[in-house]
Amino acid sequence: MPRTLTLPTPDDLHLHLRDGAVLRAVLPQTARVFARAIVMPNLVPPVVTTADARAYRERIAAAVPDGAAFEPLMTAYLTDATDPDDLAAGFEQGVFTAAKLYPAHATTNAAAGVTDVRALAPVFERMQRLDMVLCIHGEVTRPDVDIFDREAVFVDEVLAPLRRDFPELRIVLEHVTTAHAVAFVESADARLAATITPQHLLFDRNAMLVGGIRPHLYCLPILKRDRDRTALRRVVAAGSPKFFLGTDSAPHTRRTKETACGCAGVFSAPVALEAYATAFDDIGCLDRLPAFAAGFGRRFYGLAANPGTVTLEEAPWTVPERVAIDDVDDLRPLFAGEELRWRVR
Ligand code: NCD
Ligand code: ZN
Repeated sequence: MPRTLTLPTPDDLHLHLRDGAVLRAVLPQTARVFARAIVMPNLVPPVVTTADARAYRERIAAAVPDGAAFEPLMTAYLTDATDPDDLAAGFEQGVFTAAKLYPAHATTNAAAGVTDVRALAPVFERMQRLDMVLCIHGEVTRPDVDIFDREAVFVDEVLAPLRRDFPELRIVLEHVTTAHAVAFVESADARLAATITPQHLLFDRNAMLVGGIRPHLYCLPILKRDRDRTALRRVVAAGSPKFFLGTDSAPHTRRTKETACGCAGVFSAPVALEAYATAFDDIGCLDRLPAFAAGFGRRFYGLAANPGTVTLEEAPWTVPERVAIDDVDDLRPLFAGEELRWRVR
């Protein structure tokens, strides 16, 4: 008998769905497993206002495959000009679940991000009062800071002061990648949590750079050292409720990945839960996966449990090489063409 694991229907608490043809191509991949997702707002132009989010939510709803149930949880893209009144109205009307802070130019489509975090104090005060969650891309963007140090410097220079200034504000430090960030989150109170991607649990930077450069493993924050990956693996094995599932599945077409200046983002949606299961099994803590995928995060966000379950079984399968978008371009998923040990039944 193959080993199996049944878990409550999980949520993906950090996801890029994009728009148009890409949205239609990737949404079924997420909706096959996850009931809800925190949808990132870094479209071009970004999802800034309540009206933007309502319209985007409708486009997502229209792309949900027949017979699937999927609820997008919308986020507001914070800019230097965010209107706290509109943000609050969107939250109170149930349009926004959270707001996302991208430091300007930190990552894909972050050009309209925040240039001075301190100038956003009125927005954070309002969010703190409403108990609206702040999601953060935690990297500084100063050119003098090495790309491998950008998260750790952000934690010390931006996140620590932000938590001192807004101690009641609930924050998710998205896609943590360093031992330093892990230690900071662990030592903080329950108002600070973090998401972890499959690729940061599975790989270190050698996987991306040794024996040839693998552009499909290039994402931001960039893969770090083995000791950083070990810190991530340690906290999930410990079952800390402060760390939960957020895939950061970030589709970019093959043409924009396999080029002289490739985009950052790993497209993991077609293998997301299977990849986490592989990682947790490698670590020897498969029993920790249900709470990581379907418990800690939704509780942090104050979401009810989803109906139903998902069953994983140990049954090797080969991941498709591509997910077609249209006739001209396609997406290459994580583990494309490789065998994965766990699959969703
Ligand atoms: C994301 C994207 O492509 O939108 N890319 C990534 O490498 N993770 C943006 C982000 O979450 O940083
Ligand atoms: Zn992301």
